Amino acid sequence: MTEVVHTPRVFSGIQPSGGLTLGNYLGAIKRFVEMQADGIESIYCMVDLHAITVWQDPDKLRHATRELCAGYIAAGLDPAKSILFNQSQVAEHVQLSWIFNCVARMGWMNRMTQFKDKAGKNRENASVGLFSYPTLMAADILVYHATHVPVGEDQKQHLELTRDIATKFNHDFGTDFFPITEPVIEGAATRVMSLRDGTKKMSKSDPSDMSRINMTDDADAIAQKIRKAKTDPDALPSEAGGLEGRAEAQNLINIYAALAEMSVEDVLGEVGGKQFSAFKPMLVDLAVARLSPISAEMDRLMQDEAEIDAILADGSERARAIAAPILKKTYEIVGMVGA
Ligand code: TRP
Repeated sequence: MTEVVHTPRVFSGIQPSGGLTLGNYLGAIKRFVEMQADGIESIYCMVDLHAITVWQDPDKLRHATRELCAGYIAAGLDPAKSILFNQSQVAEHVQLSWIFNCVARMGWMNRMTQFKDKAGKNRENASVGLFSYPTLMAADILVYHATHVPVGEDQKQHLELTRDIATKFNHDFGTDFFPITEPVIEGAATRVMSLRDGTKKMSKSDPSDMSRINMTDDADAIAQKIRKAKTDPDALPSEAGGLEGRAEAQNLINIYAALAEMSVEDVLGEVGGKQFSAFKPMLVDLAVARLSPISAEMDRLMQDEAEIDAILADGSERARAIAAPILKKTYEIVGMVGA
């Protein structure tokens, strides 16, 4: 068998459920923009089909999909360079996910910790979609033969499953058709935690709005949330080691470093010894300076829904042009008769 060399292609996705947070921006979108700048072919998806694995109000889903698209663009993704589209409009994702449902084993799926977390105690009442979510995610990636997938630490297990599915498919059908995708896992430094509890991820689904900074928050809201953010009574350390066991301090310093594009060491070199009462206003100024141009641009883009819809339609068409031949070939390999 000849070794197929897959050209680098980036794919990632974010769920349009609720608004965009600082966590999505620093943890994901900012890195997508950097990858776009590196000139690698990149595909960024709004995974609306994943969002409905838990109930979504249809009007809110439409709004969140467009707002996510506006957020991608406002943060620096260029729809002419990267392919931006919403998942439901390229049917090949779902078609390939069915094939993968027949490749993945129940035992693999039963180990998925995200399902256990999301389904909670009432597993009998979770949707079948929530359970099979990871095979759709594998299809999102592999229907483009994506080689690199930037995601947060919490998605690592799903990417390992994607590799297992590709490996088993290739083995079962005696082919090397699907690439074994490289995860590009973000380090802890880009993981943004809740402002109320430094051990929990900042999340759009947290009941407390004070726990997160939304990309649509105005300067007053950002200032209020940072001022009220949980801290400890000690001064900031001068070295990174001093942040150990101080989850909230670590989080605020990480946020500062990511927004300023500085290392944690350099930030602590400047602010070590300061009390939070002195550091927080610096963080407010920086956050407002970095985020308000993005939220203003999101606002502007959201004024023109037709324009956003046209960008998504164009992205879907370009995505389908890549996905359709890969799905066709997959069907052939599996033994589906067709033209
Ligand atoms: N499951 C991812 C998350 O919740 C979102 C996602 C869906 C995704 N499909 C993907 C990420 C494909 C990367 C690649 O964050």
